[in-house]
Amino acid sequence: MTAFMEPFRIKSVEPIAFPTASERRDTLRAAGYNQFRIDADRITIDLLTDSGTGAMSAAQWSALLSGDESYAGARSFRRFERVVSELTGFAEVLPVHQGRAAERIVLACLLKPGQVSVSNTHFDTTRAHVELAGGTAVDLPAPDGGNLDIAALRAQFAVASVACVVLTVTNNGGGGKPVTMRNIRETRAVCDEFGVPLILDAARFAENAYLITEREPEYAGVSPRAVAEEMFRLADMCWASLKKDGIANIGGMIAMHDEELAARCRELLIAYEGFPTYGGLAGRDLEALAQGLLEVTDPAYLRYRAESARWFGEALGDAGLTVLRPVGCHAVYVDASALFPHLPAHRLPANALLSELYLEAGIRASELGTLAFGRVDPDGGPDLPAAQELVRFCLPRRVYTRGHLEYVAAAAAAIAKRAHTVPGYRIVRQSPTLRHFTAELEPVG
Ligand code: F0G
Repeated sequence: MTAFMEPFRIKSVEPIAFPTASERRDTLRAAGYNQFRIDADRITIDLLTDSGTGAMSAAQWSALLSGDESYAGARSFRRFERVVSELTGFAEVLPVHQGRAAERIVLACLLKPGQVSVSNTHFDTTRAHVELAGGTAVDLPAPDGGNLDIAALRAQFAVASVACVVLTVTNNGGGGKPVTMRNIRETRAVCDEFGVPLILDAARFAENAYLITEREPEYAGVSPRAVAEEMFRLADMCWASLKKDGIANIGGMIAMHDEELAARCRELLIAYEGFPTYGGLAGRDLEALAQGLLEVTDPAYLRYRAESARWFGEALGDAGLTVLRPVGCHAVYVDASALFPHLPAHRLPANALLSELYLEAGIRASELGTLAFGRVDPDGGPDLPAAQELVRFCLPRRVYTRGHLEYVAAAAAAIAKRAHTVPGYRIVRQSPTLRHFTAELEPVG
Protein backbone atom coordinates (compact mmCIF):
# COMPACT_ATOMS: atom_id res chain seq x y z
CA MET A 1 0.00 0.00 0.00
CA THR A 2 1.34 3.44 -0.89
CA ALA A 3 0.39 5.03 2.41
CA PHE A 4 1.99 8.37 1.90
CA MET A 5 0.65 11.80 1.20
CA GLU A 6 1.76 15.40 1.46
CA PRO A 7 2.13 16.09 5.21
CA PHE A 8 0.88 19.67 4.84
CA ARG A 9 -2.14 21.63 3.74
CA ILE A 10 -1.83 24.21 0.96
CA LYS A 11 -2.45 27.77 2.08
CA SER A 12 -1.24 29.80 -0.87
CA VAL A 13 -1.35 28.75 -4.52
CA GLU A 14 0.24 29.89 -7.76
CA PRO A 15 -1.44 29.31 -11.15
CA ILE A 16 0.55 27.44 -13.77
CA ALA A 17 0.61 28.02 -17.52
CA PHE A 18 -0.82 25.69 -20.16
CA PRO A 19 0.59 26.88 -23.50
CA THR A 20 -1.07 25.22 -26.50
CA ALA A 21 0.73 22.65 -28.66
CA SER A 22 1.48 25.25 -31.33
CA GLU A 23 2.72 27.75 -28.72
CA ARG A 24 5.01 25.04 -27.31
CA ARG A 25 6.39 24.31 -30.78
CA ASP A 26 7.09 28.00 -31.43
CA THR A 27 8.55 28.56 -27.97
CA LEU A 28 10.91 25.61 -28.23
CA ARG A 29 12.10 26.62 -31.69
CA ALA A 30 12.69 30.21 -30.53
CA ALA A 31 14.63 28.86 -27.53
CA GLY A 32 16.99 26.95 -29.84
CA TYR A 33 15.69 23.65 -28.41
CA ASN A 34 17.40 24.46 -25.11
CA GLN A 35 15.13 24.43 -22.08
CA PHE A 36 17.30 26.86 -20.13
CA ARG A 37 16.32 29.46 -22.73
CA ILE A 38 12.55 29.10 -22.19
CA ASP A 39 10.82 31.67 -19.98
CA ALA A 40 9.26 30.08 -16.89
CA ASP A 41 5.79 31.43 -17.70
CA ARG A 42 5.80 29.12 -20.73
CA ILE A 43 6.34 26.02 -18.55
CA THR A 44 3.54 23.83 -17.18
CA ILE A 45 5.59 21.62 -14.83
CA ASP A 46 9.14 22.74 -14.00
CA LEU A 47 11.43 19.94 -12.83
CA LEU A 48 14.65 21.68 -13.93
CA THR A 49 16.09 21.85 -10.41
CA ASP A 50 15.28 21.45 -6.72
CA SER A 51 17.48 24.47 -5.98
CA GLY A 52 15.78 27.59 -4.66
CA THR A 53 12.45 26.33 -5.99
CA GLY A 54 10.92 25.00 -2.75
CA ALA A 55 7.75 26.31 -1.09
CA MET A 56 8.24 28.00 2.25
CA SER A 57 6.07 27.11 5.24
CA ALA A 58 3.71 29.49 7.03
CA ALA A 59 6.30 29.64 9.83
CA GLN A 60 9.00 30.69 7.35
CA TRP A 61 6.81 33.38 5.79
CA SER A 62 6.03 34.79 9.19
CA ALA A 63 9.71 34.64 10.20
CA LEU A 64 10.50 36.90 7.23
CA LEU A 65 8.75 39.79 8.92
CA SER A 66 10.92 39.52 12.00
CA GLY A 67 14.08 39.83 9.89
CA ASP A 68 16.60 42.26 11.39
CA GLU A 69 18.21 44.15 8.52
CA SER A 70 21.01 45.74 10.55
CA TYR A 71 24.30 45.79 8.69
CA ALA A 72 26.33 44.38 11.59
CA GLY A 73 25.41 41.99 14.39
CA ALA A 74 21.80 41.46 13.29
CA ARG A 75 19.53 39.43 15.56
CA SER A 76 18.59 37.30 12.52
CA PHE A 77 22.23 36.30 12.08
CA ARG A 78 22.43 35.23 15.71
CA ARG A 79 19.39 33.01 15.25
CA PHE A 80 20.84 31.51 12.05
CA GLU A 81 24.20 30.99 13.75
CA ARG A 82 22.60 29.23 16.72
CA VAL A 83 20.48 26.91 14.54
CA VAL A 84 23.47 25.98 12.35
CA SER A 85 25.79 25.44 15.35
CA GLU A 86 23.30 23.20 17.12
CA LEU A 87 22.76 21.15 13.98
CA THR A 88 26.39 20.82 12.91
CA GLY A 89 28.41 21.19 16.11
CA PHE A 90 30.57 23.84 14.38
CA ALA A 91 31.16 27.09 16.27
CA GLU A 92 32.29 29.14 13.26
CA VAL A 93 29.31 29.96 11.00
CA LEU A 94 29.55 32.13 7.87
CA PRO A 95 26.48 32.92 5.77
CA VAL A 96 26.86 33.26 1.99
CA HIS A 97 24.39 34.01 -0.79
CA GLN A 98 24.51 30.49 -2.27
CA GLY A 99 26.56 27.30 -2.31
CA ARG A 100 29.13 28.22 -4.94
CA ALA A 101 30.14 31.35 -3.00
CA ALA A 102 31.03 29.07 -0.07
CA GLU A 103 33.06 26.78 -2.34
CA ARG A 104 34.95 29.73 -3.82
CA ILE A 105 35.89 31.15 -0.42
CA VAL A 106 36.90 27.89 1.28
CA LEU A 107 38.83 26.50 -1.68
CA ALA A 108 40.71 29.77 -2.19
CA CYS A 109 41.86 29.55 1.45
CA LEU A 110 42.54 25.82 1.59
CA LEU A 111 43.98 24.72 -1.70
CA LYS A 112 47.42 25.61 -3.09
CA PRO A 113 48.14 25.50 -6.84
CA GLY A 114 49.03 21.97 -7.91
CA GLN A 115 47.09 20.33 -5.10
CA VAL A 116 44.18 17.93 -5.44
CA SER A 117 40.66 17.83 -3.99
CA VAL A 118 39.20 14.32 -3.80
CA SER A 119 35.46 13.65 -3.74
CA ASN A 120 32.80 10.99 -4.29
CA THR A 121 31.77 13.50 -7.01
CA HIS A 122 32.44 17.24 -7.06
CA PHE A 123 29.41 19.26 -8.08
CA ASP A 124 30.13 21.25 -11.30
CA THR A 125 30.68 24.55 -9.48
CA THR A 126 32.89 22.87 -6.86
CA ARG A 127 35.06 21.44 -9.62
CA ALA A 128 35.23 24.90 -11.22
CA HIS A 129 36.40 26.49 -7.94
CA VAL A 130 39.02 23.77 -7.37
CA GLU A 131 40.36 24.53 -10.84
CA LEU A 132 40.16 28.32 -10.35
CA ALA A 133 42.29 27.87 -7.20
CA GLY A 134 44.91 26.12 -9.37
CA GLY A 135 44.07 22.59 -8.23
CA THR A 136 42.67 19.40 -9.73
CA ALA A 137 39.31 17.87 -8.78
CA VAL A 138 39.50 14.08 -8.61
CA ASP A 139 36.19 12.17 -8.52
CA LEU A 140 36.44 8.71 -7.01
CA PRO A 141 32.88 7.37 -6.70
CA ALA A 142 32.47 3.83 -5.40
CA PRO A 143 30.58 1.43 -7.71
CA ASP A 144 27.34 1.98 -5.71
CA GLY A 145 27.26 5.58 -7.01
CA GLY A 146 26.88 7.26 -3.59
CA ASN A 147 30.01 6.55 -1.59
CA LEU A 148 33.65 7.53 -1.97
CA ASP A 149 35.94 4.67 -3.05
CA ILE A 150 38.14 4.36 0.04
CA ALA A 151 40.89 2.27 -1.58
CA ALA A 152 41.16 4.75 -4.45
CA LEU A 153 41.25 7.63 -1.94
CA ARG A 154 44.18 6.01 -0.12
CA ALA A 155 45.97 5.52 -3.42
CA GLN A 156 45.64 9.26 -4.18
CA PHE A 157 47.85 10.12 -1.20
CA ALA A 158 50.72 8.18 -2.80
CA VAL A 159 50.55 10.10 -6.08
CA ALA A 160 49.22 13.60 -5.28
CA SER A 161 49.31 16.38 -2.73
CA VAL A 162 45.76 16.15 -1.37
CA ALA A 163 44.45 19.41 0.12
CA CYS A 164 41.00 18.20 1.16
CA VAL A 165 38.41 15.45 0.83
CA VAL A 166 34.84 16.46 -0.06
CA LEU A 167 31.86 14.17 0.55
CA THR A 168 28.85 15.37 -1.43
CA VAL A 169 25.75 14.28 0.51
CA THR A 170 23.70 13.12 -1.32
CA ASN A 171 25.73 12.51 -4.47
CA ASN A 172 23.93 14.71 -7.01
CA GLY A 173 26.29 13.69 -9.83
CA GLY A 174 25.76 10.02 -8.96
CA GLY A 175 21.96 9.96 -9.23
CA GLY A 176 21.21 11.42 -5.79
CA LYS A 177 22.42 8.34 -3.94
CA PRO A 178 23.32 8.72 -0.26
CA VAL A 179 26.73 8.39 1.34
CA THR A 180 26.54 5.71 4.05
CA MET A 181 27.52 6.48 7.64
CA ARG A 182 30.14 3.76 7.38
CA ASN A 183 31.66 5.48 4.35
CA ILE A 184 31.73 8.82 6.19
CA ARG A 185 33.48 7.10 9.13
CA GLU A 186 36.00 5.38 6.88
CA THR A 187 36.72 8.63 5.05
CA ARG A 188 37.20 10.33 8.43
CA ALA A 189 39.76 7.68 9.40
CA VAL A 190 41.74 8.17 6.18
CA CYS A 191 41.65 11.96 6.62
CA ASP A 192 42.96 11.56 10.18
CA GLU A 193 45.73 9.25 9.02
CA PHE A 194 46.96 11.74 6.40
CA GLY A 195 46.07 14.94 8.27
CA VAL A 196 43.74 16.50 5.70
CA PRO A 197 40.34 18.10 6.38
CA LEU A 198 37.09 16.29 5.61
CA ILE A 199 34.47 18.65 4.16
CA LEU A 200 30.78 17.83 3.74
CA ASP A 201 29.05 19.40 0.76
CA ALA A 202 25.85 19.37 2.78
CA ALA A 203 23.33 20.71 0.22
CA ARG A 204 21.06 17.67 0.77
CA PHE A 205 22.18 16.62 4.26
CA ALA A 206 18.66 15.89 5.55
CA GLU A 207 17.80 13.67 2.59
CA ASN A 208 21.09 11.81 3.06
CA ALA A 209 20.28 11.34 6.76
CA TYR A 210 16.79 10.05 6.00
CA LEU A 211 18.10 7.55 3.42
CA ILE A 212 20.59 6.30 6.04
CA THR A 213 17.69 5.59 8.43
CA GLU A 214 15.90 3.67 5.67
CA ARG A 215 18.79 1.67 4.31
CA GLU A 216 21.19 1.06 7.20
CA PRO A 217 19.79 -1.37 9.80
CA GLU A 218 21.92 0.19 12.56
CA TYR A 219 20.02 3.48 12.06
CA ALA A 220 16.48 2.09 11.72
CA GLY A 221 14.29 4.07 14.10
CA VAL A 222 16.92 6.79 14.73
CA SER A 223 15.61 10.28 13.97
CA PRO A 224 16.93 11.91 10.77
CA ARG A 225 17.98 14.89 12.89
CA ALA A 226 20.17 12.66 15.10
CA VAL A 227 21.71 11.04 12.01
CA ALA A 228 22.38 14.45 10.47
CA GLU A 229 24.06 15.62 13.69
CA GLU A 230 26.27 12.54 13.64
CA MET A 231 27.21 13.08 9.97
CA PHE A 232 28.30 16.68 10.62
CA ARG A 233 30.27 15.69 13.70
CA LEU A 234 32.41 13.31 11.65
CA ALA A 235 33.56 16.19 9.42
CA ASP A 236 35.95 19.10 10.01
CA MET A 237 33.78 21.57 8.17
CA CYS A 238 30.94 21.89 5.72
CA TRP A 239 29.73 24.13 2.99
CA ALA A 240 26.19 24.05 1.72
CA SER A 241 23.82 25.50 -0.77
CA LEU A 242 20.82 26.13 1.50
CA LYS A 243 18.62 26.52 -1.59
CA LYS A 244 18.02 22.78 -1.21
CA ASP A 245 17.67 21.48 2.36
CA GLY A 246 17.38 25.00 3.81
CA ILE A 247 14.02 25.03 1.96
CA ALA A 248 14.45 28.70 1.11
CA ASN A 249 14.83 30.44 -2.21
CA ILE A 250 18.35 31.75 -1.64
CA GLY A 251 21.21 31.19 0.80
CA GLY A 252 24.25 29.16 1.71
CA MET A 253 26.74 28.64 4.50
CA ILE A 254 30.22 27.69 5.59
CA ALA A 255 30.66 26.15 9.05
CA MET A 256 33.75 24.75 10.75
CA HIS A 257 35.74 24.27 13.98
CA ASP A 258 38.99 25.90 12.82
CA GLU A 259 39.05 29.51 14.10
CA GLU A 260 42.13 30.49 12.11
CA LEU A 261 40.77 29.20 8.78
CA ALA A 262 37.40 30.83 9.55
CA ALA A 263 39.17 34.18 10.06
CA ARG A 264 40.82 33.89 6.62
CA CYS A 265 37.48 32.90 5.06
CA ARG A 266 35.84 35.95 6.70
CA GLU A 267 38.33 38.25 4.96
CA LEU A 268 37.23 36.88 1.58
CA LEU A 269 33.61 36.85 2.72
CA ILE A 270 33.77 40.61 3.32
CA ALA A 271 35.41 41.16 -0.08
CA TYR A 272 33.01 38.96 -2.06
CA GLU A 273 29.73 38.70 -0.17
CA GLY A 274 29.31 41.29 2.58
CA PHE A 275 29.82 41.77 6.30
CA PRO A 276 30.17 38.39 8.09
CA THR A 277 26.81 38.69 9.85
CA TYR A 278 24.83 38.85 6.60
CA GLY A 279 27.12 37.41 3.88
CA GLY A 280 25.18 38.56 0.83
CA LEU A 281 21.76 37.78 2.32
CA ALA A 282 19.00 39.92 3.80
CA GLY A 283 18.20 39.47 7.50
CA ARG A 284 14.84 38.04 6.47
CA ASP A 285 16.58 35.38 4.34
CA LEU A 286 18.56 34.30 7.40
CA GLU A 287 15.28 33.98 9.35
CA ALA A 288 13.70 31.83 6.63
CA LEU A 289 16.80 29.63 6.49
CA ALA A 290 16.99 29.17 10.26
CA GLN A 291 13.35 28.05 10.28
CA GLY A 292 13.82 25.86 7.16
CA LEU A 293 16.79 24.08 8.74
CA LEU A 294 14.60 23.16 11.71
CA GLU A 295 11.75 21.90 9.50
CA VAL A 296 13.75 19.89 6.99
CA THR A 297 14.59 17.00 9.32
CA ASP A 298 10.92 16.39 10.19
CA PRO A 299 10.50 12.61 9.65
CA ALA A 300 7.01 12.99 8.13
CA TYR A 301 8.29 15.51 5.59
CA LEU A 302 11.31 13.37 4.66
CA ARG A 303 9.22 10.24 4.37
CA TYR A 304 6.83 12.02 2.00
CA ARG A 305 9.81 13.31 0.02
CA ALA A 306 11.42 9.87 -0.37
CA GLU A 307 8.11 8.08 -1.03
CA SER A 308 6.99 10.57 -3.65
CA ALA A 309 10.34 10.32 -5.48
CA ARG A 310 10.08 6.53 -5.39
CA TRP A 311 6.47 6.59 -6.56
CA PHE A 312 7.43 8.91 -9.41
CA GLY A 313 10.34 6.63 -10.36
CA GLU A 314 7.96 3.66 -10.54
CA ALA A 315 5.49 5.67 -12.62
CA LEU A 316 8.19 6.72 -15.12
CA GLY A 317 9.39 3.10 -15.26
CA ASP A 318 5.83 1.90 -15.95
CA ALA A 319 5.63 4.56 -18.68
CA GLY A 320 8.52 2.83 -20.47
CA LEU A 321 11.52 4.89 -19.32
CA THR A 322 14.69 3.33 -17.92
CA VAL A 323 15.00 4.69 -14.37
CA LEU A 324 18.23 4.67 -12.35
CA ARG A 325 17.54 2.71 -9.16
CA PRO A 326 17.35 2.95 -6.26
CA VAL A 327 15.71 6.36 -6.51
CA GLY A 328 16.92 8.89 -3.90
CA CYS A 329 14.94 11.93 -2.70
CA HIS A 330 15.62 14.99 -4.79
CA ALA A 331 15.22 13.67 -8.34
CA VAL A 332 14.54 10.77 -10.63
CA TYR A 333 17.21 10.11 -13.24
CA VAL A 334 16.39 8.29 -16.49
CA ASP A 335 18.61 6.90 -19.23
CA ALA A 336 17.62 8.52 -22.53
CA SER A 337 19.91 6.33 -24.65
CA ALA A 338 17.84 3.27 -23.63
CA LEU A 339 14.69 5.02 -24.88
CA PHE A 340 16.25 6.18 -28.14
CA PRO A 341 18.66 3.43 -29.29
CA HIS A 342 18.60 4.98 -32.78
CA LEU A 343 20.28 8.18 -31.51
CA PRO A 344 24.07 8.15 -30.99
CA ALA A 345 25.48 10.30 -28.16
CA HIS A 346 26.46 13.16 -30.50
CA ARG A 347 22.79 13.41 -31.57
CA LEU A 348 22.05 14.30 -27.92
CA PRO A 349 19.41 11.72 -26.90
CA ALA A 350 18.89 13.29 -23.46
CA ASN A 351 18.16 16.64 -25.06
CA ALA A 352 15.83 14.87 -27.51
CA LEU A 353 13.82 13.56 -24.55
CA LEU A 354 13.69 17.05 -23.01
CA SER A 355 12.36 18.50 -26.27
CA GLU A 356 9.66 15.83 -26.48
CA LEU A 357 8.62 16.45 -22.86
CA TYR A 358 8.15 20.12 -23.61
CA LEU A 359 6.37 19.55 -26.93
CA GLU A 360 4.10 16.90 -25.42
CA ALA A 361 3.10 18.65 -22.20
CA GLY A 362 5.12 21.80 -21.39
CA ILE A 363 7.45 19.92 -19.02
CA ARG A 364 11.00 21.07 -18.24
CA ALA A 365 13.76 18.87 -16.79
CA SER A 366 17.55 18.90 -17.14
CA GLU A 367 20.16 17.24 -19.32
CA LEU A 368 23.09 15.32 -17.84
CA GLY A 369 24.51 13.92 -21.04
CA THR A 370 26.68 14.89 -23.98
CA LEU A 371 25.33 18.45 -24.18
CA ALA A 372 26.41 19.13 -20.57
CA PHE A 373 29.44 16.87 -20.23
CA GLY A 374 30.54 15.96 -23.78
CA ARG A 375 33.47 17.69 -25.41
CA VAL A 376 34.04 19.17 -28.84
CA ASP A 377 36.36 16.88 -30.83
CA PRO A 378 39.56 18.86 -31.52
CA ASP A 379 39.88 16.96 -34.83
CA GLY A 380 36.45 18.12 -36.01
CA GLY A 381 34.66 14.77 -35.60
CA PRO A 382 31.42 14.17 -33.68
CA ASP A 383 31.42 15.38 -30.07
CA LEU A 384 33.24 13.18 -27.58
CA PRO A 385 30.39 11.65 -25.58
CA ALA A 386 29.58 11.87 -21.87
CA ALA A 387 29.65 8.67 -19.82
CA GLN A 388 25.84 8.54 -19.73
CA GLU A 389 22.86 10.20 -21.43
CA LEU A 390 20.70 11.08 -18.45
CA VAL A 391 17.66 13.27 -17.92
CA ARG A 392 17.13 14.47 -14.35
CA PHE A 393 13.57 15.10 -13.21
CA CYS A 394 14.13 17.21 -10.08
CA LEU A 395 11.49 17.54 -7.40
CA PRO A 396 11.16 21.02 -5.89
CA ARG A 397 10.36 20.74 -2.17
CA ARG A 398 6.67 20.90 -1.16
CA VAL A 399 5.65 22.29 -4.58
CA TYR A 400 4.10 19.55 -6.73
CA THR A 401 1.56 16.93 -5.67
CA ARG A 402 1.12 13.42 -6.97
CA GLY A 403 -1.42 14.79 -9.48
CA HIS A 404 1.31 16.88 -11.11
CA LEU A 405 3.66 13.92 -11.25
CA GLU A 406 0.93 11.71 -12.79
CA TYR A 407 0.67 14.32 -15.55
CA VAL A 408 4.43 14.01 -16.20
CA ALA A 409 4.26 10.19 -16.22
CA ALA A 410 1.39 10.29 -18.74
CA ALA A 411 3.46 12.53 -21.02
CA ALA A 412 6.42 10.15 -20.69
CA ALA A 413 4.20 7.21 -21.68
CA ALA A 414 3.00 9.03 -24.81
CA ILE A 415 6.62 9.80 -25.79
CA ALA A 416 7.76 6.21 -25.16
CA LYS A 417 5.10 4.94 -27.60
CA ARG A 418 6.55 7.04 -30.43
CA ALA A 419 10.18 6.87 -29.29
CA HIS A 420 11.48 5.47 -32.62
CA THR A 421 10.22 8.58 -34.47
CA VAL A 422 11.97 11.10 -32.20
CA PRO A 423 14.71 13.12 -33.96
CA GLY A 424 18.22 13.78 -32.70
CA TYR A 425 19.81 17.22 -32.43
CA ARG A 426 22.89 19.08 -33.49
CA ILE A 427 24.44 22.13 -31.89
CA VAL A 428 24.36 25.24 -34.06
CA ARG A 429 25.83 27.68 -31.53
CA GLN A 430 27.77 27.05 -28.32
CA SER A 431 30.09 28.73 -25.83
CA PRO A 432 33.51 27.24 -24.97
CA THR A 433 32.55 26.55 -21.32
CA LEU A 434 29.29 25.41 -19.69
CA ARG A 435 27.72 25.25 -23.14
CA HIS A 436 24.50 23.56 -22.04
CA PHE A 437 23.19 26.74 -20.40
CA THR A 438 23.21 28.78 -23.58
CA ALA A 439 23.70 26.49 -26.62
CA GLU A 440 21.29 26.66 -29.54
CA LEU A 441 20.32 23.42 -31.27
CA GLU A 442 18.25 22.16 -34.16
CA PRO A 443 16.59 18.82 -34.89
CA VAL A 444 18.28 16.47 -37.37
CA GLY A 445 16.32 14.01 -39.49
N1 F0G B 1 26.74 21.37 -4.32
C1 F0G B 1 25.75 20.57 -4.79
C2 F0G B 1 25.74 19.13 -4.40
C3 F0G B 1 24.75 21.10 -5.61
O1 F0G B 1 23.79 20.30 -6.07
C4 F0G B 1 24.79 22.48 -5.94
C5 F0G B 1 23.76 23.08 -6.80
C6 F0G B 1 25.83 23.26 -5.43
C7 F0G B 1 26.78 22.67 -4.62
C8 F0G B 1 25.96 24.73 -5.75
O2 F0G B 1 25.04 25.45 -5.03
O3 F0G B 1 23.59 26.51 -6.77
O4 F0G B 1 23.56 27.30 -4.39
O5 F0G B 1 25.51 27.77 -5.84
N2 F0G B 1 22.96 22.40 -7.49
C9 F0G B 1 21.85 22.86 -8.32
C10 F0G B 1 21.24 21.70 -9.04
C11 F0G B 1 22.16 24.04 -9.16
O6 F0G B 1 20.35 21.93 -9.89
O7 F0G B 1 21.60 20.54 -8.75
P1 F0G B 1 24.40 26.84 -5.55
